[in-house]
Amino acid sequence: MASVKITVRKNGPYRVEAPEGTIELVDADGNKYDLTGKPAFSLCRCGGSVNKPFCDGTHSKIGFQGAEIAVRKADESQTPKL
Ligand code: FES
Repeated sequence: MASVKITVRKNGPYRVEAPEGTIELVDADGNKYDLTGKPAFSLCRCGGSVNKPFCDGTHSKIGFQGAEIAVRKADESQTPKL
């Protein structure tokens, strides 16, 4: 069984759950984020968080829709009506 679980939340962040100390999260320069005391955290995928890479709840305020829903809606709008 995997020790890390990542859940894609509907219209929300990626929820990461793992035993404390088993995940290393770094920025583009290799600097580590302090995950002390965080066996779970959420990563922003809407782009709106002011606390990136973490989710701060902004996705709810901006009406973020996960790609799976946005793509489905785009496909529906491009389907010719007969
Ligand atoms: S996913 Fe929550 S603020 Fe972006």
